[in-house]
Amino acid sequence: MRTVLVLNGPNLGRLGSREPDVYGSADLDALRALLTESAPNDVSVDLRQTDDEAELIHWLHAAVDERIPVILNPAAFTHYSYALRDAAALVTKAGLTLVEVHLSNPHARETFRHTSVVSAVATGVIAGFGFDSYRLALDFVVNARSGGSNAP
Ligand code: DQA
Repeated sequence: MRTVLVLNGPNLGRLGSREPDVYGSADLDALRALLTESAPNDVSVDLRQTDDEAELIHWLHAAVDERIPVILNPAAFTHYSYALRDAAALVTKAGLTLVEVHLSNPHARETFRHTSVVSAVATGVIAGFGFDSYRLALDFVVNARSGGSNAP
């Protein structure tokens, strides 16, 4: 059984009621169900959310140690957390895939959202497709020729 970590940053635990016009009206349990249903039988989806930067960083460290590919929605940390960026770089430098995802398209929103300090160390970025951003990322991670490593 392969595992894919799906990590979500601050305020994403409020999905469902948080700005539904931007993020939709479904919650994280619905996202977990969608991804679990979309994953092949031999892939286990481990979806987590935290509002705590340190916890998110520790989960990335564990991904490196356990060699698990990551789908990461860093939420607002995207725009300013160099600590999270450094942890994300540890994942990709270890040869593991890390896909940065966003529900909305940050480039179509406020100027402060146009900058991601994470993107440059991610394997790739998928944004603007709601839950499908995650589904597309999962599809890449499980089907990548490299099998979750970030080799070309
Ligand atoms: C987000 C976009 C971020 O700008 C915002 O802070 C979020 C969610 C998204 O998924 O669209 O919390 O990452």
